[in-house]
Amino acid sequence: MNQHHPTESRTTMSETTTLAPAAAAASDSRPQVREIGIIMNGVSGRMGYRQHLVRSILAIRDQGGIELPDGSRVTVKPILVGRSAAKLAELAAKHGIEDYTSDLDAALADPRWEIYADFLVTKARSSALRKAIAAGKTIYTEKPTAETADEALELAKLADAAGIKTGVVHDKLYLPGLQKLKRLIDSGFFGRILSVRGEFGYWVFEGDWQPAQRPSWNYRVEDGGGIIVDMFPHWNYVLENLFGKVETVYAQAATHIPTRWDESGDPYEATAEDAAYGIFELEGGTIAQINSSWTVRVNRDELVEFHVDGTHGSAVVGLFGAKIQHRNATPKPVWNPDLADDHDYDADWAELPVNDVFQNGFRQQWEEFLTSYVLGTPYEFDLLSGARGVLLAEAGLESSREGRKIALRTLTLE
Ligand SMILES: NC(=O)c1ccc[n+]([C@@H]2O[C@H](COP(=O)([O-])OP(=O)(O)OC[C@H]3O[C@@H](n4cnc5c(N)ncnc54)[C@H](O)[C@@H]3O)[C@@H](O)[C@H]2O)c1
Repeated sequence: MNQHHPTESRTTMSETTTLAPAAAAASDSRPQVREIGIIMNGVSGRMGYRQHLVRSILAIRDQGGIELPDGSRVTVKPILVGRSAAKLAELAAKHGIEDYTSDLDAALADPRWEIYADFLVTKARSSALRKAIAAGKTIYTEKPTAETADEALELAKLADAAGIKTGVVHDKLYLPGLQKLKRLIDSGFFGRILSVRGEFGYWVFEGDWQPAQRPSWNYRVEDGGGIIVDMFPHWNYVLENLFGKVETVYAQAATHIPTRWDESGDPYEATAEDAAYGIFELEGGTIAQINSSWTVRVNRDELVEFHVDGTHGSAVVGLFGAKIQHRNATPKPVWNPDLADDHDYDADWAELPVNDVFQNGFRQQWEEFLTSYVLGTPYEFDLLSGARGVLLAEAGLESSREGRKIALRTLTLE
Protein backbone atom coordinates (compact mmCIF):
# COMPACT_ATOMS: atom_id res chain seq x y z
CA MET A 1 0.00 0.00 0.00
CA ASN A 2 1.49 3.34 -0.96
CA GLN A 3 0.59 5.54 2.00
CA HIS A 4 2.65 8.54 0.94
CA HIS A 5 1.55 8.87 -2.66
CA PRO A 6 -2.09 7.82 -2.77
CA THR A 7 -2.56 9.22 -6.25
CA GLU A 8 0.86 8.35 -7.58
CA SER A 9 0.88 8.43 -11.34
CA ARG A 10 3.56 7.60 -13.79
CA THR A 11 2.87 8.06 -17.46
CA THR A 12 5.13 8.44 -20.44
CA MET A 13 4.32 9.36 -24.01
CA SER A 14 5.81 6.77 -26.29
CA GLU A 15 7.06 7.96 -29.66
CA THR A 16 4.72 5.67 -31.52
CA THR A 17 1.58 6.92 -29.74
CA THR A 18 -0.97 8.12 -32.24
CA LEU A 19 -3.46 10.69 -31.04
CA ALA A 20 -5.88 10.41 -33.93
CA PRO A 21 -9.49 10.07 -32.75
CA ALA A 22 -11.51 7.16 -34.11
CA ALA A 23 -13.25 9.13 -36.84
CA ALA A 24 -10.01 10.52 -38.25
CA ALA A 25 -8.47 7.08 -38.21
CA ALA A 26 -11.08 5.86 -40.66
CA SER A 27 -9.92 8.38 -43.27
CA ASP A 28 -7.14 7.95 -45.84
CA SER A 29 -4.62 9.41 -43.43
CA ARG A 30 -4.83 6.38 -41.19
CA PRO A 31 -1.32 5.43 -40.13
CA GLN A 32 0.04 1.97 -40.88
CA VAL A 33 0.17 1.27 -37.16
CA ARG A 34 -2.41 2.79 -34.88
CA GLU A 35 -1.76 2.58 -31.14
CA ILE A 36 -4.81 2.66 -28.90
CA GLY A 37 -4.48 3.74 -25.28
CA ILE A 38 -6.71 1.75 -22.94
CA ILE A 39 -7.55 2.61 -19.33
CA MET A 40 -7.81 -0.73 -17.53
CA ASN A 41 -9.66 -0.23 -14.25
CA GLY A 42 -9.71 -3.11 -11.78
CA VAL A 43 -6.73 -5.12 -13.07
CA SER A 44 -5.91 -6.46 -9.62
CA GLY A 45 -9.13 -8.52 -9.69
CA ARG A 46 -9.61 -12.05 -10.97
CA MET A 47 -11.17 -11.13 -14.31
CA GLY A 48 -9.27 -7.89 -14.80
CA TYR A 49 -5.90 -9.51 -14.32
CA ARG A 50 -6.20 -12.98 -15.86
CA GLN A 51 -8.66 -12.59 -18.69
CA HIS A 52 -8.47 -8.94 -19.70
CA LEU A 53 -4.91 -7.88 -18.93
CA VAL A 54 -2.79 -11.00 -19.33
CA ARG A 55 -4.76 -13.14 -21.77
CA SER A 56 -6.20 -10.32 -23.88
CA ILE A 57 -4.48 -6.94 -23.92
CA LEU A 58 -0.92 -8.08 -23.12
CA ALA A 59 -1.29 -11.04 -25.47
CA ILE A 60 -2.39 -8.66 -28.24
CA ARG A 61 0.47 -6.27 -27.38
CA ASP A 62 3.05 -9.07 -27.33
CA GLN A 63 2.04 -10.39 -30.73
CA GLY A 64 2.47 -6.88 -32.19
CA GLY A 65 -1.19 -5.94 -32.33
CA ILE A 66 -3.94 -7.10 -34.66
CA GLU A 67 -4.14 -6.84 -38.40
CA LEU A 68 -7.05 -5.04 -40.03
CA PRO A 69 -8.57 -6.10 -43.35
CA ASP A 70 -6.59 -3.36 -45.19
CA GLY A 71 -3.29 -4.70 -43.86
CA SER A 72 -2.67 -1.93 -41.31
CA ARG A 73 -2.17 -2.84 -37.66
CA VAL A 74 -3.72 -1.79 -34.38
CA THR A 75 -1.59 -2.03 -31.26
CA VAL A 76 -2.61 -1.51 -27.67
CA LYS A 77 -1.09 0.45 -24.82
CA PRO A 78 -2.65 -0.10 -21.38
CA ILE A 79 -2.62 2.19 -18.37
CA LEU A 80 -3.39 0.28 -15.18
CA VAL A 81 -5.87 1.94 -12.83
CA GLY A 82 -6.88 0.86 -9.35
CA ARG A 83 -7.02 1.92 -5.73
CA SER A 84 -3.58 0.74 -4.68
CA ALA A 85 -0.66 2.35 -6.50
CA ALA A 86 1.71 -0.15 -4.86
CA LYS A 87 -0.19 -3.12 -6.31
CA LEU A 88 -0.32 -1.45 -9.72
CA ALA A 89 3.41 -0.69 -9.63
CA GLU A 90 4.10 -4.35 -8.98
CA LEU A 91 1.87 -5.48 -11.86
CA ALA A 92 3.31 -2.86 -14.20
CA ALA A 93 6.88 -3.93 -13.42
CA LYS A 94 6.04 -7.60 -13.78
CA HIS A 95 4.53 -7.13 -17.23
CA GLY A 96 6.65 -4.29 -18.65
CA ILE A 97 3.81 -1.76 -18.60
CA GLU A 98 4.87 1.90 -18.60
CA ASP A 99 1.78 3.55 -17.19
CA TYR A 100 -0.29 3.17 -14.07
CA THR A 101 -2.21 5.45 -11.75
CA SER A 102 -4.57 5.38 -8.80
CA ASP A 103 -6.16 8.61 -10.08
CA LEU A 104 -8.99 7.55 -12.41
CA ASP A 105 -10.09 11.14 -13.04
CA ALA A 106 -6.61 12.09 -14.28
CA ALA A 107 -6.54 9.12 -16.64
CA LEU A 108 -10.00 10.01 -17.95
CA ALA A 109 -8.91 13.60 -18.54
CA ASP A 110 -5.88 12.48 -20.59
CA PRO A 111 -6.64 12.27 -24.35
CA ARG A 112 -3.97 9.61 -24.86
CA TRP A 113 -6.39 7.05 -23.43
CA GLU A 114 -9.23 6.47 -25.87
CA ILE A 115 -10.94 3.46 -24.32
CA TYR A 116 -12.12 3.03 -20.74
CA ALA A 117 -12.30 -0.66 -19.75
CA ASP A 118 -14.00 -1.69 -16.49
CA PHE A 119 -13.43 -4.89 -14.49
CA LEU A 120 -14.46 -3.57 -11.07
CA VAL A 121 -16.78 -5.29 -8.65
CA THR A 122 -20.31 -4.89 -9.97
CA LYS A 123 -21.30 -2.37 -7.30
CA ALA A 124 -18.55 0.07 -8.30
CA ARG A 125 -19.21 -0.18 -12.05
CA SER A 126 -21.99 2.22 -12.98
CA SER A 127 -20.50 5.30 -11.26
CA ALA A 128 -17.17 4.66 -13.02
CA LEU A 129 -18.92 4.13 -16.37
CA ARG A 130 -20.86 7.38 -15.93
CA LYS A 131 -17.60 9.27 -15.42
CA ALA A 132 -15.98 7.62 -18.43
CA ILE A 133 -18.99 8.42 -20.64
CA ALA A 134 -18.92 12.03 -19.43
CA ALA A 135 -15.22 12.14 -20.37
CA GLY A 136 -16.13 10.97 -23.89
CA LYS A 137 -14.23 7.69 -23.69
CA THR A 138 -15.15 4.62 -25.67
CA ILE A 139 -16.42 1.99 -23.21
CA TYR A 140 -15.58 -1.69 -22.84
CA THR A 141 -16.89 -3.38 -19.71
CA GLU A 142 -17.49 -6.57 -17.82
CA LYS A 143 -21.06 -7.61 -17.12
CA PRO A 144 -23.37 -6.91 -15.36
CA THR A 145 -23.20 -3.31 -16.56
CA ALA A 146 -25.20 -2.01 -13.56
CA GLU A 147 -27.17 -3.22 -10.55
CA THR A 148 -30.59 -2.31 -11.92
CA ALA A 149 -32.08 -2.45 -15.40
CA ASP A 150 -33.04 1.24 -15.22
CA GLU A 151 -29.46 2.23 -14.45
CA ALA A 152 -28.10 -0.09 -17.16
CA LEU A 153 -30.49 1.40 -19.71
CA GLU A 154 -29.62 4.92 -18.58
CA LEU A 155 -25.92 4.18 -19.19
CA ALA A 156 -26.73 2.87 -22.68
CA LYS A 157 -28.74 6.03 -23.41
CA LEU A 158 -26.03 8.36 -22.09
CA ALA A 159 -23.40 6.67 -24.25
CA ASP A 160 -25.68 6.72 -27.28
CA ALA A 161 -26.47 10.42 -26.81
CA ALA A 162 -22.74 11.15 -26.55
CA GLY A 163 -22.07 9.16 -29.74
CA ILE A 164 -19.84 6.77 -27.84
CA LYS A 165 -19.12 3.22 -28.96
CA THR A 166 -19.63 0.64 -26.24
CA GLY A 167 -18.82 -3.02 -25.77
CA VAL A 168 -19.85 -5.47 -23.06
CA VAL A 169 -18.18 -8.82 -22.38
CA HIS A 170 -20.18 -11.63 -24.03
CA ASP A 171 -17.45 -14.22 -23.48
CA LYS A 172 -19.58 -17.37 -23.33
CA LEU A 173 -20.52 -16.96 -27.01
CA TYR A 174 -16.85 -17.44 -27.85
CA LEU A 175 -16.48 -20.76 -26.06
CA PRO A 176 -15.45 -23.44 -28.54
CA GLY A 177 -18.45 -25.58 -27.53
CA LEU A 178 -20.89 -22.74 -28.13
CA GLN A 179 -19.25 -21.84 -31.42
CA LYS A 180 -19.70 -25.44 -32.54
CA LEU A 181 -23.33 -25.17 -31.42
CA LYS A 182 -23.78 -21.99 -33.44
CA ARG A 183 -22.48 -23.78 -36.51
CA LEU A 184 -24.92 -26.66 -35.93
CA ILE A 185 -27.81 -24.20 -35.62
CA ASP A 186 -26.76 -22.28 -38.74
CA SER A 187 -26.47 -25.52 -40.72
CA GLY A 188 -30.08 -26.43 -39.91
CA PHE A 189 -28.98 -29.60 -38.11
CA PHE A 190 -31.65 -29.38 -35.40
CA GLY A 191 -34.72 -28.84 -37.55
CA ARG A 192 -37.08 -26.96 -35.23
CA ILE A 193 -35.41 -26.38 -31.86
CA LEU A 194 -37.75 -27.49 -29.11
CA SER A 195 -35.84 -27.04 -25.90
CA VAL A 196 -32.54 -26.17 -24.28
CA ARG A 197 -31.43 -27.49 -20.91
CA GLY A 198 -28.43 -25.78 -19.38
CA GLU A 199 -26.55 -26.99 -16.36
CA PHE A 200 -23.97 -24.63 -14.94
CA GLY A 201 -22.12 -24.94 -11.70
CA TYR A 202 -19.69 -26.55 -9.34
CA TRP A 203 -19.04 -26.68 -5.63
CA VAL A 204 -17.70 -23.40 -4.22
CA PHE A 205 -16.13 -24.18 -0.87
CA GLU A 206 -17.64 -22.52 2.16
CA GLY A 207 -14.27 -21.12 3.19
CA ASP A 208 -13.89 -22.70 6.61
CA TRP A 209 -12.03 -25.95 6.11
CA GLN A 210 -10.89 -25.08 2.56
CA PRO A 211 -10.60 -21.50 1.23
CA ALA A 212 -13.43 -20.50 -1.15
CA GLN A 213 -12.43 -20.27 -4.82
CA ARG A 214 -14.62 -17.22 -5.49
CA PRO A 215 -14.52 -13.77 -3.82
CA SER A 216 -16.79 -13.49 -0.76
CA TRP A 217 -18.69 -10.47 -2.17
CA ASN A 218 -20.37 -12.95 -4.56
CA TYR A 219 -22.40 -14.28 -1.60
CA ARG A 220 -23.48 -10.91 -0.14
CA VAL A 221 -26.40 -9.17 -1.83
CA GLU A 222 -25.40 -5.84 -0.23
CA ASP A 223 -22.07 -6.07 -2.07
CA GLY A 224 -23.58 -6.84 -5.49
CA GLY A 225 -23.39 -10.64 -5.14
CA GLY A 226 -25.75 -13.48 -6.07
CA ILE A 227 -25.70 -16.10 -8.82
CA ILE A 228 -28.67 -14.55 -10.65
CA VAL A 229 -26.97 -11.18 -11.08
CA ASP A 230 -23.78 -13.02 -12.01
CA MET A 231 -25.12 -15.61 -14.48
CA PHE A 232 -28.44 -14.39 -15.94
CA PRO A 233 -26.70 -11.63 -17.95
CA HIS A 234 -24.69 -14.43 -19.60
CA TRP A 235 -27.78 -16.57 -20.19
CA ASN A 236 -29.54 -13.62 -21.80
CA TYR A 237 -26.97 -13.06 -24.52
CA VAL A 238 -26.39 -16.80 -25.02
CA LEU A 239 -30.11 -17.44 -25.47
CA GLU A 240 -30.88 -14.39 -27.61
CA ASN A 241 -27.90 -14.88 -29.92
CA LEU A 242 -28.35 -18.63 -30.39
CA PHE A 243 -32.03 -19.46 -29.90
CA GLY A 244 -34.21 -16.36 -29.66
CA LYS A 245 -34.91 -13.32 -27.52
CA VAL A 246 -36.01 -14.12 -23.96
CA GLU A 247 -39.69 -13.23 -23.54
CA THR A 248 -40.50 -14.52 -20.06
CA VAL A 249 -38.66 -15.89 -17.04
CA TYR A 250 -39.66 -17.99 -14.10
CA ALA A 251 -36.90 -18.48 -11.56
CA GLN A 252 -36.51 -19.98 -8.15
CA ALA A 253 -33.54 -18.65 -6.18
CA ALA A 254 -32.12 -20.45 -3.17
CA THR A 255 -29.45 -19.72 -0.59
CA HIS A 256 -28.51 -23.29 0.19
CA ILE A 257 -25.46 -22.43 2.32
CA PRO A 258 -26.39 -19.65 4.77
CA THR A 259 -22.96 -19.12 6.35
CA ARG A 260 -19.65 -18.81 4.55
CA TRP A 261 -16.14 -17.75 5.54
CA ASP A 262 -14.44 -14.75 3.91
CA GLU A 263 -10.88 -14.06 2.71
CA SER A 264 -9.76 -13.39 6.30
CA GLY A 265 -11.27 -16.63 7.55
CA ASP A 266 -14.15 -14.82 9.34
CA PRO A 267 -17.70 -16.20 9.10
CA TYR A 268 -20.35 -14.07 7.39
CA GLU A 269 -23.99 -14.46 6.54
CA ALA A 270 -24.56 -15.37 2.89
CA THR A 271 -27.34 -12.93 2.03
CA ALA A 272 -27.32 -13.68 -1.71
CA GLU A 273 -28.64 -16.78 -3.47
CA ASP A 274 -26.09 -19.43 -4.38
CA ALA A 275 -28.37 -21.33 -6.78
CA ALA A 276 -31.07 -20.40 -9.29
CA TYR A 277 -33.42 -22.69 -11.18
CA GLY A 278 -34.77 -20.84 -14.22
CA ILE A 279 -37.21 -21.42 -17.06
CA PHE A 280 -37.12 -19.05 -20.02
CA GLU A 281 -39.64 -18.79 -22.88
CA LEU A 282 -37.97 -17.62 -26.07
CA GLU A 283 -39.22 -15.81 -29.13
CA GLY A 284 -40.03 -18.53 -31.68
CA GLY A 285 -41.29 -20.98 -29.06
CA THR A 286 -38.14 -22.67 -27.76
CA ILE A 287 -38.20 -23.37 -24.02
CA ALA A 288 -34.93 -23.03 -22.12
CA GLN A 289 -34.34 -24.32 -18.64
CA ILE A 290 -31.06 -23.43 -16.95
CA ASN A 291 -29.81 -24.39 -13.51
CA SER A 292 -27.06 -22.17 -12.12
CA SER A 293 -25.44 -23.30 -8.89
CA TRP A 294 -22.38 -22.89 -6.72
CA THR A 295 -23.70 -25.71 -4.55
CA VAL A 296 -23.55 -28.74 -6.86
CA ARG A 297 -20.89 -31.38 -7.34
CA VAL A 298 -20.03 -31.91 -10.98
CA ASN A 299 -21.19 -35.10 -12.67
CA ARG A 300 -20.90 -33.90 -16.27
CA ASP A 301 -18.05 -33.60 -18.71
CA GLU A 302 -17.70 -29.84 -18.19
CA LEU A 303 -18.62 -27.02 -15.78
CA VAL A 304 -21.34 -25.84 -18.14
CA GLU A 305 -23.35 -27.97 -20.53
CA PHE A 306 -26.28 -27.23 -22.81
CA HIS A 307 -28.49 -30.02 -24.11
CA VAL A 308 -30.43 -28.95 -27.19
CA ASP A 309 -33.26 -31.04 -28.63
CA GLY A 310 -34.64 -30.41 -32.10
CA THR A 311 -37.01 -32.27 -34.39
CA HIS A 312 -34.12 -33.52 -36.56
CA GLY A 313 -31.30 -33.84 -34.08
CA SER A 314 -29.95 -33.13 -30.63
CA ALA A 315 -26.64 -31.88 -29.26
CA VAL A 316 -24.86 -31.63 -25.94
CA VAL A 317 -22.23 -28.92 -25.83
CA GLY A 318 -19.91 -27.75 -23.10
CA LEU A 319 -17.08 -25.27 -22.84
CA PHE A 320 -15.08 -27.20 -25.42
CA GLY A 321 -16.83 -30.38 -26.45
CA ALA A 322 -19.89 -30.97 -28.58
CA LYS A 323 -21.61 -34.24 -29.37
CA ILE A 324 -24.61 -34.84 -31.58
CA GLN A 325 -27.28 -37.39 -32.27
CA HIS A 326 -29.15 -37.22 -35.56
CA ARG A 327 -32.71 -38.52 -35.81
CA ASN A 328 -31.38 -41.38 -37.95
CA ALA A 329 -29.20 -42.46 -35.03
CA THR A 330 -31.87 -42.09 -32.36
CA PRO A 331 -32.63 -45.30 -30.41
CA LYS A 332 -36.22 -46.32 -29.62
CA PRO A 333 -36.35 -46.92 -25.87
CA VAL A 334 -39.41 -48.52 -24.35
CA TRP A 335 -40.11 -47.73 -20.71
CA ASN A 336 -40.01 -50.94 -18.68
CA PRO A 337 -38.96 -50.57 -15.05
CA ASP A 338 -38.98 -54.35 -14.57
CA LEU A 339 -36.11 -54.97 -16.97
CA ALA A 340 -32.54 -53.74 -16.52
CA ASP A 341 -31.70 -51.60 -19.56
CA ASP A 342 -28.31 -52.50 -20.97
CA HIS A 343 -28.45 -50.11 -23.92
CA ASP A 344 -25.37 -47.85 -24.00
CA TYR A 345 -27.04 -44.46 -24.52
CA ASP A 346 -23.68 -42.64 -24.48
CA ALA A 347 -22.61 -44.62 -27.53
CA ASP A 348 -25.47 -43.14 -29.58
CA TRP A 349 -23.71 -39.77 -29.64
CA ALA A 350 -21.00 -38.68 -32.08
CA GLU A 351 -18.30 -36.23 -30.98
CA LEU A 352 -17.92 -33.26 -33.32
CA PRO A 353 -14.42 -32.87 -34.76
CA VAL A 354 -12.39 -29.74 -33.97
CA ASN A 355 -12.20 -28.06 -37.38
CA ASP A 356 -11.17 -24.62 -36.16
CA VAL A 357 -8.46 -23.08 -34.03
CA PHE A 358 -10.15 -21.39 -31.09
CA GLN A 359 -8.37 -18.69 -29.12
CA ASN A 360 -9.26 -17.29 -25.70
CA GLY A 361 -12.80 -15.90 -25.97
CA PHE A 362 -12.09 -12.73 -24.01
CA ARG A 363 -9.21 -11.94 -26.36
CA GLN A 364 -11.26 -12.79 -29.45
CA GLN A 365 -13.95 -10.35 -28.36
CA TRP A 366 -11.39 -7.66 -27.54
CA GLU A 367 -9.92 -8.05 -31.04
CA GLU A 368 -13.34 -7.77 -32.64
CA PHE A 369 -14.23 -4.74 -30.53
CA LEU A 370 -10.96 -2.95 -31.31
CA THR A 371 -11.38 -3.68 -35.01
CA SER A 372 -14.95 -2.39 -34.95
CA TYR A 373 -13.83 0.71 -33.04
CA VAL A 374 -11.07 1.60 -35.48
CA LEU A 375 -13.15 0.87 -38.58
CA GLY A 376 -16.25 2.57 -37.14
CA THR A 377 -18.49 -0.43 -37.89
CA PRO A 378 -21.62 -1.24 -35.81
CA TYR A 379 -21.05 -3.33 -32.69
CA GLU A 380 -23.98 -5.35 -31.41
CA PHE A 381 -22.68 -6.48 -28.00
CA ASP A 382 -23.13 -2.98 -26.61
CA LEU A 383 -24.50 -1.38 -23.43
CA LEU A 384 -28.07 -1.94 -24.67
CA SER A 385 -27.38 -5.66 -24.97
CA GLY A 386 -25.77 -5.47 -21.52
CA ALA A 387 -28.91 -3.76 -20.18
CA ARG A 388 -31.08 -6.63 -21.48
CA GLY A 389 -28.86 -8.96 -19.46
CA VAL A 390 -29.35 -6.89 -16.32
CA LEU A 391 -33.11 -6.81 -17.00
CA LEU A 392 -33.23 -10.61 -17.14
CA ALA A 393 -31.39 -10.82 -13.81
CA GLU A 394 -33.74 -8.29 -12.24
CA ALA A 395 -36.81 -10.12 -13.58
CA GLY A 396 -35.39 -13.45 -12.36
CA LEU A 397 -35.07 -12.09 -8.84
CA GLU A 398 -38.55 -10.57 -9.01
CA SER A 399 -39.97 -13.87 -10.24
CA SER A 400 -38.37 -15.75 -7.38
CA ARG A 401 -39.58 -13.22 -4.80
CA GLU A 402 -43.14 -13.21 -6.10
CA GLY A 403 -43.40 -16.85 -7.20
CA ARG A 404 -44.64 -16.01 -10.69
CA LYS A 405 -43.56 -15.85 -14.32
CA ILE A 406 -42.37 -12.39 -15.43
CA ALA A 407 -42.72 -11.04 -18.99
CA LEU A 408 -39.71 -8.96 -20.02
CA ARG A 409 -40.26 -5.43 -21.30
CA THR A 410 -38.48 -4.30 -24.44
CA LEU A 411 -35.62 -1.92 -23.80
CA THR A 412 -34.98 0.81 -26.37
CA LEU A 413 -32.77 3.87 -26.54
CA GLU A 414 -35.69 6.23 -27.27
N1 LIG B 1 -17.34 -12.59 -17.85
C1 LIG B 1 -17.22 -13.48 -16.90
O1 LIG B 1 -17.23 -14.67 -17.12
C2 LIG B 1 -17.07 -13.04 -15.46
C3 LIG B 1 -16.64 -13.96 -14.49
C4 LIG B 1 -16.49 -13.52 -13.19
C5 LIG B 1 -16.76 -12.19 -12.87
N2 LIG B 1 -17.18 -11.33 -13.82
C6 LIG B 1 -17.49 -9.92 -13.50
O2 LIG B 1 -16.24 -9.22 -13.39
C7 LIG B 1 -16.32 -8.27 -12.34
C8 LIG B 1 -15.17 -8.49 -11.37
O3 LIG B 1 -15.27 -9.77 -10.79
P1 LIG B 1 -14.00 -10.52 -10.17
O4 LIG B 1 -14.43 -11.91 -9.93
O5 LIG B 1 -12.80 -10.25 -10.99
O6 LIG B 1 -13.89 -9.76 -8.76
P2 LIG B 1 -12.59 -9.44 -7.88
O7 LIG B 1 -13.11 -9.20 -6.51
O8 LIG B 1 -11.53 -10.47 -8.08
O9 LIG B 1 -12.03 -8.07 -8.51
C9 LIG B 1 -12.72 -6.86 -8.38
C10 LIG B 1 -11.85 -5.64 -8.67
O10 LIG B 1 -12.58 -4.47 -8.26
C11 LIG B 1 -11.79 -3.69 -7.34
N3 LIG B 1 -12.71 -3.09 -6.36
C12 LIG B 1 -13.35 -3.73 -5.35
N4 LIG B 1 -14.15 -2.86 -4.68
C13 LIG B 1 -14.00 -1.67 -5.28
C14 LIG B 1 -14.55 -0.36 -5.05
N5 LIG B 1 -15.42 -0.15 -4.08
N6 LIG B 1 -14.17 0.64 -5.86
C15 LIG B 1 -13.29 0.42 -6.87
N7 LIG B 1 -12.74 -0.79 -7.13
C16 LIG B 1 -13.10 -1.82 -6.36
C17 LIG B 1 -10.82 -4.68 -6.71
O11 LIG B 1 -9.68 -4.01 -6.24
C18 LIG B 1 -10.53 -5.59 -7.92
O12 LIG B 1 -9.55 -5.00 -8.75
C19 LIG B 1 -17.71 -8.42 -11.71
O13 LIG B 1 -18.56 -7.42 -12.18
C20 LIG B 1 -18.18 -9.78 -12.18
O14 LIG B 1 -19.58 -9.83 -12.34
C21 LIG B 1 -17.33 -11.73 -15.11
